[in-house]
Amino acid sequence: MPGEKTESVGAPGLDYSLVSFAEILFPCLDAAAPASVIEVGAYKGDFTGALLEWAAGSGARVAAIDPDPPPELLRVADAHPELELVRAPSHEALAELPPADALIIDGDHNHYTLSEELRLIDEQAPAGGFPLILFHDVCWPHARRDTYYAPERIPEQYRQPLAREAMIAPGESGTASAGILYPWAAAREGGPKNGVLTAIEDFLEHRSGLRLAIVPAFFGLGVLWPEDAPWADTVANVVAPWDRSALVARLEADRVQHIVDRIKLERQQVLLRAMLNSRAFAIAERISSVWQRGEPVFSRDQVRRALGD
Ligand SMILES: C[S@@+](CC[C@H](N)C(=O)[O-])C[C@H]1O[C@@H](n2cnc3c(N)ncnc32)[C@H](O)[C@@H]1O
Repeated sequence: MPGEKTESVGAPGLDYSLVSFAEILFPCLDAAAPASVIEVGAYKGDFTGALLEWAAGSGARVAAIDPDPPPELLRVADAHPELELVRAPSHEALAELPPADALIIDGDHNHYTLSEELRLIDEQAPAGGFPLILFHDVCWPHARRDTYYAPERIPEQYRQPLAREAMIAPGESGTASAGILYPWAAAREGGPKNGVLTAIEDFLEHRSGLRLAIVPAFFGLGVLWPEDAPWADTVANVVAPWDRSALVARLEADRVQHIVDRIKLERQQVLLRAMLNSRAFAIAERISSVWQRGEPVFSRDQVRRALGD
């Protein structure tokens, strides 16, 4: 996504949208039956559209917050006058909007932003009325590593040391030579005040009466709810089969490795195609044929076959 996630994140297979969690998210929303829902970070409106469809049945009011709405989201807003689109960073928007009964948090994935969002939500919640909160990106790569859409929006003392155009790969705590690309990321994974899950855990250290479930698929879904809500048991039942599932986590680790491998492969393909089109490579093939007396060590045909052309 623009700003933080580059176009590579919107590419097929990267599953950036919460739409991937529909079978869990909507039953949770059905259980809590919120009168108002806020989506923080709406991007192209993929999930916003699904949320509006759900709200048409439930009667809930929907607001979407995004400081940088792309044209696709503006089109969703045009087609749905019932959607309140707030073009501002979450901290400004949440301070202005009335408290919601449910929130979907999927904006700027860093410790400071998440901590401030949770602080504002908690401060504004009516007594005994902490909302249902659904978080995206509570697993790798954001769980223990900040990324920033706009580092200048984060006070310097709360920012991790930055890496520009950072490639992130699983198992590499620094930056990698090939991986998912972020315009701005923490130079290192881990440590205090780093990452989305760290922010949620830090919040929960000082706030009792809440339960957190983690669905370790598609970069991770967090579900946070007040244990004393009348709908708490229903939400608990919806998430129970997925919560911290070791099997799902293994599938996710495999999926993430495939994503990074595919990125490597795409870079290799770009290089091979550039070689195929270069005169230097054609000359080298001819020289190799002469040296080998017929069959060259490498040929453009071999490269084309390797590329599947
Ligand atoms: C991961 S995308 C959201 C995807 C969307 N929720 C979905 O499921 O389809 C993150 C979005 O957050 C927005 N964003 C960045 N910083 C933000 C902030 N401080 N407050 C709210 N949204 C923010 C970005 O502009 C981007 O469109």
